[in-house]
Amino acid sequence: MTAIDFDLSDPQFWARPPEERETAYDRLRALEHPAFFDEPDVGYAPKGPGYYALVKHADILEASRNADIFASGRGGATSIVDTPPEFAEYFGSMINMDDPRHARLRRIVSRAFTPKMIKQFEADVQTAAAAIVDDLLAKGSGCDFVTEVAARLPLKIICDMMGIAEEHYGFVFEHSNVILGGFDTEYVGEEADKPIDRILRSAGELQHLVQDLAAHRRSAPANDLVSALVTANIDGEQLTSDELSSFFILLVVAGNETTRNAISHGLRLLTVHPDQRALLTEDLDGRLPGAVEEIVRLGSPVNFMRRKLTRDHEMNGTRYREGDKVVLFYLAANRDPEVFPDPYRFDIARSPNPHVGYGGPGPHFCMGAHLARREITVMLGELLRRVPDIQAGQPDRLHSAFINGIKHMECAF
Ligand code: HEM
Repeated sequence: MTAIDFDLSDPQFWARPPEERETAYDRLRALEHPAFFDEPDVGYAPKGPGYYALVKHADILEASRNADIFASGRGGATSIVDTPPEFAEYFGSMINMDDPRHARLRRIVSRAFTPKMIKQFEADVQTAAAAIVDDLLAKGSGCDFVTEVAARLPLKIICDMMGIAEEHYGFVFEHSNVILGGFDTEYVGEEADKPIDRILRSAGELQHLVQDLAAHRRSAPANDLVSALVTANIDGEQLTSDELSSFFILLVVAGNETTRNAISHGLRLLTVHPDQRALLTEDLDGRLPGAVEEIVRLGSPVNFMRRKLTRDHEMNGTRYREGDKVVLFYLAANRDPEVFPDPYRFDIARSPNPHVGYGGPGPHFCMGAHLARREITVMLGELLRRVPDIQAGQPDRLHSAFINGIKHMECAF
């Protein structure tokens, strides 16, 4: 067994080419027990005890299923370092909570997504994707696929859903980019010790936007999610003002930064695998749903979530102690050869395809998976029908441990 001579906590590791990071994951997966890494020293929180890197599919399934043992709420799921309590106002939503608080919040929010609202948005996805392709054709070859195509659909849909006017789309885009900007100086600035201030500032800006909107909707409700959340009082349950802000931030960030990357990875994969593209276009309606799952498996827009053990526990032959941290590396599990034969092959007909791109089965499974599938399917379908020769250029990748992102990518047709 080769020694582990790389460090997942080193920001520079996440600037390495994707193939090198995948080789590192392969080496971790070949170990008998999960490797242990020291935590990064971040300055805004005390240095924690370190973490085990879970890279096998079986570990991720079991940790996700047993949410009472593998907690999301003790210091947070979206950060390896425990998030300081003052972040809760912005980032303390359901993804960083455990039951029963998590279940309560998810219940209230799910009930606000009425079947009528979901139907309405399904139709809107189609209309919006068609308009984006109209604009692309008018602009012509050579534009940035990420900003002109991939980012626009999820941004419009999530903003429409919340009731955010079109004039604020740019504002939401800019601030959600900063929040999930990782180490990337394009979004979080050049000063290495300041990103956290910028992130908190951006979260504060989004909080103002939702609080203004909520104030309007309380007096004049409209047909949107913010109205439903501030007016509906289902079984006596309602969101507090802080819960509304942090849920809003979670939804705009989770809804935008993930689906955009899936669409960009999709065009890239279809460009570098012309055989799979030909297979897909032979029967677009029939094969697109399978292709979208395969894109989310290989693209894995969310690289990881973190858990903390609530008690001593043995999982797949490894003993963990109460308080241990484990990081669920979805991208690594999505290449586990025990589950995915020939895991690096892009195979739009792969079946079964039990990827964990939307998280493992359990209470935190992605709430937007249905919407995301719809957006990716409709956007790629519209592109392949109307711009059948579209090709992706080289991706300019986001420097982040958390998001497997593409910031810019030229397209030609
Ligand atoms: C391809 C697109 C997407 C990917 C890859 C993705 C991935 C994920 C992952 C990995 C989790 C965490 C699961 C866990 O901690 O166990 C998650 C949770 C979540 N996602 Fe997504 N997501 C996507 C799209 C969306 C969209 C479009 C929305 C909203 C409209 C959304 C809203 C959420 C919410 C609210 C949660 C928290 C659920 C909870 O804690 O109960 N996601 N997603």
